[in-house]
Amino acid sequence: METVWASKDGQAFLVKGDCFEFMRAGPDESVDCIWTDPPYLLSNDGTTCVGGERVSVNKGEWDRSQGLEADHAFNTRWLTECYRLLKPSGTIWVSGTHHVYLSVGFAMMQIGFRILNDVVWEKSTPPPNLGRRCLTHASELLLWATKAKKGGEDRYTFNYDELRQENGGKQMKNVWRMRAAPPTERKHGKCATQKPLALVDRCLRASTNPGDFVFDPFAGSGTTLIAASYLGRRVYGCDNDQGNLAVAVRRLRAMDEGERLLVPAVPKASNGQSEGASPAGGAVPTGV
Ligand SMILES: C[S@@+](CC[C@H](N)C(=O)[O-])C[C@H]1O[C@@H](n2cnc3c(N)ncnc32)[C@H](O)[C@@H]1O
Repeated sequence: METVWASKDGQAFLVKGDCFEFMRAGPDESVDCIWTDPPYLLSNDGTTCVGGERVSVNKGEWDRSQGLEADHAFNTRWLTECYRLLKPSGTIWVSGTHHVYLSVGFAMMQIGFRILNDVVWEKSTPPPNLGRRCLTHASELLLWATKAKKGGEDRYTFNYDELRQENGGKQMKNVWRMRAAPPTERKHGKCATQKPLALVDRCLRASTNPGDFVFDPFAGSGTTLIAASYLGRRVYGCDNDQGNLAVAVRRLRAMDEGERLLVPAVPKASNGQSEGASPAGGAVPTGV
């Protein structure tokens, strides 16, 4: 295990290493919120379209399916560790495609999580479907779940009013139209699975408060760490891919130097929801 980046005040850090080993060392009930996208397990030697060109879908060996049962066992294992790490009122967001969210959702229920919402992230500019044998994949699904029992004394955080305000005074729906990470968020290097900051930003504003502890076991290019830091949350994460970690470290250092990585909100989309960041363009960096 090696710390590859830490904030100046020590309230945020990124570790290189296997998430199972890393999580095993973490104390019980110490985390307020987990935001993560695990391997989608879709590296099957197929192709997809990026920037108008046909490219391999393969992301790396970590993204290769080992078969249904082994994949479900993998999801159950890391989610079980997350359950242990979360405080009794803690929540978890897991993003995925159909390759993984059915197993993730089932594992969550088996472990004892209570699913609060499924959130559809509708991509405003999805890549075309080159095979033309099924619909264009234009969405990802996030499952938002808690350890808190319904009607129990532990109450999870949901900043209802903030999200309603963001949605023009109407209740925030569970369908969010947002673009993929824009070039401004990718200028520090390529991570094929990089998520837009605006997506993580909205989830964290909904479910955490300043000072809360956020964790991402599959941190990739560091999106969760950056979004959480801008919002004044304490945050840590780990990943074991050298290439993705290198991108993460460059992005985190740019943030340290004051670079504004979270792009300002773009004009309202047709469904009345912002396609970009929060109305304020995300909270200002706190130096966390
Ligand atoms: C879908 S990507 C995460 C992308 C990230 N949300 C972002 O915005 O950049 C999944 C990540 O999980 C990492 N990973 C896979 N297995 C791992 C393991 N056992 N321990 C730590 N990281 C792992 C991969 O290296 C990859 O970076």
